[in-house]
Amino acid sequence: MDDRINDTLDRWDRESFLHPSTHLAKHARGEVANRIVQRASGVYIEDRDGTRLLDAFAGLYCVNVGYGRTEIAEAIAHQAQELAYYHAYAGHGTEASITLAHMVMERMPAHMSKVFFGLGGSDANTTNVKLVWYYNNILGRPEKKKIISRHRGYHGSGIMSGSLTGLPMWHTHFDLPLDRVLHTEAPYFMHRQDRDQDEAQFAAHCVEALEAMILREGPETVAAFVAEPVLGTGGIVPPPEGYWEGVQEVLDRHDILFIADEVVTGFGRLGSMTGSAHYGLKPDIITIAKGLTSAYAPLSGSVVGDRVWSVLEQGTDATGPLGHGWTYAAHPLGAAAGVANLRLIDELGLVENAAEVGSYLTMGLAQAVSDHPAVGEVRGVGMLSAVELMADPQAGTFYPAGAGIAAKVTTAMAARGVIARPMPHSEVLGFAPPLCLTRAEADTICEVTRAALDEVLD
Ligand SMILES: Cc1ncc(COP(=O)(O)O)c(C=O)c1O
Repeated sequence: MDDRINDTLDRWDRESFLHPSTHLAKHARGEVANRIVQRASGVYIEDRDGTRLLDAFAGLYCVNVGYGRTEIAEAIAHQAQELAYYHAYAGHGTEASITLAHMVMERMPAHMSKVFFGLGGSDANTTNVKLVWYYNNILGRPEKKKIISRHRGYHGSGIMSGSLTGLPMWHTHFDLPLDRVLHTEAPYFMHRQDRDQDEAQFAAHCVEALEAMILREGPETVAAFVAEPVLGTGGIVPPPEGYWEGVQEVLDRHDILFIADEVVTGFGRLGSMTGSAHYGLKPDIITIAKGLTSAYAPLSGSVVGDRVWSVLEQGTDATGPLGHGWTYAAHPLGAAAGVANLRLIDELGLVENAAEVGSYLTMGLAQAVSDHPAVGEVRGVGMLSAVELMADPQAGTFYPAGAGIAAKVTTAMAARGVIARPMPHSEVLGFAPPLCLTRAEADTICEVTRAALDEVLD
């Protein structure tokens, strides 16, 4: 560390850069190593010291097509030269943003109608909530405004999107959540309170808890339910059998809009184009980001279904233009990246590859680590896998909160050349590699995971 601290970039980093999700004091004091990433290609990133790492989390599960795709880089460069920026207010558009809107809608469930483009998942979820409130105001139901989210859900870190997030770290010391946001039970079977419940009983229990909350609050006050098709940052947890069918029925019964947050699951992550298609969901609004551009440029979207769209039409006819937008909404560079990215996903068959190599990876992880004494479960869907660590799986004992075991394992993995993510608020190793992962690369991930577990926990 000492000779590195004299290095200019390292010094500037610690002097000047306030990083997200970082122990700020330790970083500024130089007590934790930083990594300055220099270049990347395929599923590998390389730092400026020349260390090459297999990125088994695709950045923050976003570089879905893999790194170094010249098709996308060239599309962005071309767009920057021709028209780096024009806004989208008052009906303005660009060839890229209009083409991308069309391509997005071709890939969404048939009942979806239009897409509003933002910059990231957090602002898209803010847009969604504003549209939901607008919807109920136009319908003459000003009291129907509460949003139900889930504990362990992740929907961003803005004031509204951070309120939707159901993880304490995003609330504590920030005066969140806002009081119109409520959190219901997480469909996390491994962590169920009643150990006698089987999966179907647990799913029914979660659905009942949701309906009980709606009835307690009064259905006339509850506007929307927001959820990721697969819990992501909260632990990478596919839903228990029967959960989505039950939730969908409850929402329909009480006339509550459904926002499916597909920031992670959209555009192939689950081995299907959308999580909604994967699980047969019928959302009214879908949040998209990450895989929309594979993070080659920032862009997100709020996709609205027919039911919401018809009220937006009615509203603007009655009251005038929608009072919502960002300067960079539908930014042409993001849109150009999105067009090239979605084409590439099709051309390379990445949705299919996510299904095939993704299940190979989850099975490989199960084979590699299931017999390890600290492994409680290996789970996954598509190119999204998790290894949950437990103090004593036989006795059903979890590690105490904040034990940091997963972080130690992922540090040992990085030393062996593979990046996995220690999921916050659980002892879970998370895997979400680029969708172009090969079987050989999946084998490397499995071998390194086992070796790191042995090193840290034996
Ligand atoms: C499901 C989900 N929604 C929203 C977000 C927030 O997106 P962003 O970080 O682009 O604001 C994330 C980020 O990880 C996410 O996983």
